[in-house]
Amino acid sequence: MIVNKDSLAVITGASEGIGFALSTELLKIGFQVIGISSNKNKILRMKKKLNHFGNKFTGICADVRNLKDLQLVAKKFDGPDLLILNAGIYSPVYCENPDIEIFKKHNEVNYLGVINTYVAFLKKMLTKKKGIIVIMSSISGWLGLPKAAAYGPTKAALRSFSQSARYDLEKYGITIKLCSPGFVNTPATSQNKFYMPGLLEPDVAAKIIIKNLESKKFEISFPFFFSYFMKFLSILPDMISYKIISSGTRNNDK
Ligand SMILES: NC(=O)c1ccc[n+]([C@@H]2O[C@H](COP(=O)([O-])OP(=O)(O)OC[C@H]3O[C@@H](n4cnc5c(N)ncnc54)[C@H](OP(=O)(O)O)[C@@H]3O)[C@@H](O)[C@H]2O)c1
Repeated sequence: MIVNKDSLAVITGASEGIGFALSTELLKIGFQVIGISSNKNKILRMKKKLNHFGNKFTGICADVRNLKDLQLVAKKFDGPDLLILNAGIYSPVYCENPDIEIFKKHNEVNYLGVINTYVAFLKKMLTKKKGIIVIMSSISGWLGLPKAAAYGPTKAALRSFSQSARYDLEKYGITIKLCSPGFVNTPATSQNKFYMPGLLEPDVAAKIIIKNLESKKFEISFPFFFSYFMKFLSILPDMISYKIISSGTRNNDK
């Protein structure tokens, strides 16, 4: 594993859900963790919960939409060995009544927020000539799913970005990993009223991600059966996948 006593992980969206679980699990195995998120109260709560790790954990309030703030944060620390670009939002969208502000916010946080953080921290990683960057996409990035018209395209964009960026970063010893989870039980998914197949707890998801950091796989996707099923759907002819998904999700709003 890439961990020695000085190994540093920077995680965005660290105050809750998958980001909080990743912070906790990485602290447990010896990483120093810098956790970033935008809400001060959530940062305070996170600091309290991780208090027993002492100065191994630093919680920082910054919005991933603000490149300048992220650059100021990056200036204060060494280049991370592990950069996890995880901050994200999800709101269901009804396409017969679209609200442009919801689309813009998804793009600004989920897509441009990742690029901002990447830009802010990359320089020092390039100098170090090593490190892993995890980009948090989703199975929703593989194919358009009901109510995901604002969320899904941002995750598809991250997939495309990661695929492109890895050609350039390889020669610097930096590995890009695309992470595409299925359903994880977090505040984001708590708004879903429908059955979520293969729902995992965040600590289980975090352990899977960490276990796969040094694997040769470009994409980390889980849980196994649900992700394979969705991958299969994504390569089927559209006429078939459309029928399967629409009949399987017809009652989700009820
Ligand atoms: N849960 C799932 O089933 C699932 C599945 C696939 C992919 N994912 C992806 O995994 C990531 C984490 O999801 P989650 O379910 O753990 O979400 P979550 O529980 O809602 O947590 C989201 C985190 O992002 C932070 N955040 C939101 N907007 C931010 C901003 N503008 N600047 C900085 N931080 C911001 C939040 O903190 P603040 O509010 O303090 O900013 C929070 O810490 C997301 O990218 C999500 O799309 C989740």
